[in-house]
Amino acid sequence: MSLPVYFAPLEGVTDTVYRQVHHAHFGGPVKYFIPFISPTQNLVLTPRERKNVDPQANAGFYAVPQVLAKNAGHFIWAANLLHDLGYEEINLNAGCPSGTVTAKGKGAGLLQRPQELSWLLDEIFAHTPVRVSVKTRIGFSSPEEFDALLEIYSRYPIHELIIHPRTREEYYKGSVHRDVYAAAEARTRLPLVYNGDLFTPQACRALEQAHPKTRALMLGRGMLANPALAQTYAGGAPLSRETLRAFHDDLLSAYQEAYPSSVVLGRMREVAKNIACCFEGAEKPLKAARKASSMAAYQDAVTRLFEDYALSANPCFSARS
Ligand SMILES: Cc1cc2nc3c(=O)[nH]c(=O)nc-3n(C[C@H](O)[C@H](O)[C@H](O)COP(=O)(O)O)c2cc1C
Repeated sequence: MSLPVYFAPLEGVTDTVYRQVHHAHFGGPVKYFIPFISPTQNLVLTPRERKNVDPQANAGFYAVPQVLAKNAGHFIWAANLLHDLGYEEINLNAGCPSGTVTAKGKGAGLLQRPQELSWLLDEIFAHTPVRVSVKTRIGFSSPEEFDALLEIYSRYPIHELIIHPRTREEYYKGSVHRDVYAAAEARTRLPLVYNGDLFTPQACRALEQAHPKTRALMLGRGMLANPALAQTYAGGAPLSRETLRAFHDDLLSAYQEAYPSSVVLGRMREVAKNIACCFEGAEKPLKAARKASSMAAYQDAVTRLFEDYALSANPCFSARS
């Protein structure tokens, strides 16, 4: 039996169109996390945020909106709005490492001031009408911070604690601190979800066996590189050239319906970059797709890629791709 898989929120990539098209083509994720909305003083969502959490745009699968906030009033305002839209679960972002975010004390910035984090959680759990999960890193500067942070988290009825075992300062570099995750598993009764560097079905299986108290796995970059990763881990069909091509082509059509051509090209170049690992020896057409300055050039490169190159035996995210 495999663990349930959640599709991680990936701001700028897993937008409404991507989530819908992924769900139509591949099985696997039982939850799709929506990239963060970030409420500000004036308490209005941007048009882009509104679109991202529109229930119609997330129909057909279980979607979890995420909120980036350090101000309890802002979080609770967003929680009420999302509850009114029909969501029963929302996620607090305590992991975003971006300097512009942490400078405002949000995302992983919350981990720098544990006392303030605790006050925020007091307010959230006193006033939020829906289930709240938290996606966290293990510290701001050092993994040693996690003991105290976990002690705080464990005081609240957090629906799920999703742990990415790196500090803010590590961004996505180096290895994940699996020992810190193991220690957390031994110390808390909160339901834990593991996130970080799981790029193959074998890696998911090994995690599940090494950490038996884990309730679910959250997969991010591995899913962008191989969109059938969760499906394969769950015992379903591995990626094939045909399924990847059908996914790619539907994604392109859906973006063309939703966005102007300049935006579509940017999105698809990113898609080409993400699926680069799926082909072996295809540097030339992949480079052409990633650098294409017109849709015709992009389409031409993709046709060459799918017609002339074989799929890798084990498509897997690599930091170089
Ligand atoms: C381009 C990009 C955008 C991301 N956007 C978000 C986001 O909106 N919210 C969030 O909590 N994490 C975000 N993350 C972090 C991922 O959700 C995930 O935690 C990270 O990629 C590690 O998991 P992985 O090793 O499976 O990729 C983002 C990561 C990347 C690379």
